[in-house]
Amino acid sequence: MSQDDLKKAAAEAALVHVRDGMRLGLGTGSTARPFVDAVGRLVAEGLNVVCVPTSEATAEQARGLNIPLSTLDETPHLDVTVDGADELDSQLRLIKGGGGALLREKIVASASAEMVVIADSSKRVDMLGAFALPIEVVQFGAQVTAGKVVGILNELSLRPDVRQRQGASGPFITDGGNFIYDCHLEQLPNPEELALALQAQTGVVEHGLFIGLAARAYVASAEGVEELVA
Ligand code: A5P
Repeated sequence: MSQDDLKKAAAEAALVHVRDGMRLGLGTGSTARPFVDAVGRLVAEGLNVVCVPTSEATAEQARGLNIPLSTLDETPHLDVTVDGADELDSQLRLIKGGGGALLREKIVASASAEMVVIADSSKRVDMLGAFALPIEVVQFGAQVTAGKVVGILNELSLRPDVRQRQGASGPFITDGGNFIYDCHLEQLPNPEELALALQAQTGVVEHGLFIGLAARAYVASAEGVEELVA
């Protein structure tokens, strides 16, 4: 099975959470994409749902599939959000933001009664940190904020290598108009401690640690799709 097949298998497994009349959060990325495709297929067959996308890219995909869209202001309480992850551990703590959509993803997941993660088994880790942790920072004074982030990481003995994310023609800009700094940490033994410290740093808009948000995950490997519950 290819990695795309595994992503699709995880996405299809999460469809069990989709029922008529639901308000859904639609994730972002190459694993969320087949889930959005599947929702589009069900909508074409008559499913009645309203969806809030976590990025402009997902909104565009959903519009192309005639999925009814709403905003979080119009639809503030969602039943389920289904989204991918860059890493997940056994407690369903996540690193997200590899695609740059972490801020909207976290806002939408936080507005949902349940967040369901879909992933191929390469995302499963014993300890978070091999995937560079994305941190979204406001453009004003971004280098100063990034310096403060390095200070926080040093303080926690994390020996960081922090790099500003680049796009095709200059710095990567998020849907919210901010920069992203990717923190290469290798190992992150205490994600809660780092999450709290980053949350308190002025200029940091959001970080890619999703802790206490995911209730369930579907992880696909060649052996099948495993369901993990937090
Ligand atoms: C988007 O910003 C991310 O949080 C994605 O959800 C995450 O990077 C997983 O993406 P893939 O499914 O493409 O690996």
